[in-house]
Amino acid sequence: MSDFAVEGVWAAPGRVNVIGEHTDYNNGFVLPTAIPQTVRAAVGRRTDGLLRLASTHAGAEPVEFAVADLAPGVLSGWTAYPAGVVWALRAAGHDIGGADIRIDSDVPVGAGLSSSAALSCAVALALDDLYELGFDRVELARVAQRVENDFVGIPVGLLDQMASLGCRAGHAYFLDCRDLTGTHVPFDCAGSGLRLLVIDTRAAHALVDGGYATRRASCEEAARLLGVASLREITDPDAALAALPAGPLRMRVRHVLTENERVLRVVDALRVGDVRAIGPELTASHASMRDDYTISCPELDTAVDTALATGALGARLVGGGFGGSAIALVEADDSAPVAEAVEKAFAVRGFTAPRFFEAIPSAGARRLS
Ligand code: GLA
Repeated sequence: MSDFAVEGVWAAPGRVNVIGEHTDYNNGFVLPTAIPQTVRAAVGRRTDGLLRLASTHAGAEPVEFAVADLAPGVLSGWTAYPAGVVWALRAAGHDIGGADIRIDSDVPVGAGLSSSAALSCAVALALDDLYELGFDRVELARVAQRVENDFVGIPVGLLDQMASLGCRAGHAYFLDCRDLTGTHVPFDCAGSGLRLLVIDTRAAHALVDGGYATRRASCEEAARLLGVASLREITDPDAALAALPAGPLRMRVRHVLTENERVLRVVDALRVGDVRAIGPELTASHASMRDDYTISCPELDTAVDTALATGALGARLVGGGFGGSAIALVEADDSAPVAEAVEKAFAVRGFTAPRFFEAIPSAGARRLS
């Protein structure tokens, strides 16, 4: 590790999604913001066909691969992400002759805050710079998405990668996933006397388990039944819902359609600086994911319900669901009491103790040195 030939350091942040969940792969709207926690990749080129990886993460042993041997499904764990970036670039015809990559990160792992996307994005940005590939941020996001889709095997959308690469400090990133155009919307919680509290429930969150893929498949099936290319093309939501069989399929579509509308209302409120007004939309988003998309879990519901009962203006699960984190929009003075109440509620139910962070809208991926 000490002989790693470092030419520079690149950082990519994790994210929280303010609203717009499971809409990205339906060509819908999302509104993420980057968090201050980043993955840092110290990277140097090699010309001998070797990829050497190291991480400061406890228990991570340095490993070495021949870049020519990289193939989907071969690796699991953290090494799959940096290796997957090298594989994806080489598969696209770019001559990556090898690299030394040393990873350091303070993005909580397994918390639904996109630590894996941040890892891929930091490495993709580094290799783009060093090998002078000339990719723009959307192209880099697609490389990082390809790592998840084709190398690791999870059919994620582009939310996390676009957030990590595209966010701006003090703003949320309003992105239309149909054409990947985005605008930066001011998101100043502190200036409004508020905090966006992240509650990491510590409940297992593993998208590989299949719940994510089955939700996505349901949306694709519904689009097929409705004769549209994606759920975004639905122009008459009531008629579309009525045309679907009552039950899970209709519920999934109802979530996606109503969630897109909530994103637009939140963006309108933020544009006029009314941060408090977004609270009820966050809470409605959670109810929709709990009842229609059925991706919540007892820990997430407890976090959300307790935060609301303790005065939060709104709260919802973030990310793929089935565990991971919730966010709660709280008056600054309520932050500590909300955290305390959630901690107590978890203890009473015998859940693992939660962790808390503040989500401060931060900058997207960049070169540090
Ligand atoms: C995960 C995926 C994203 C997105 C969210 C749900 O974070 O990686 O692409 O689908 O779930 O909004």
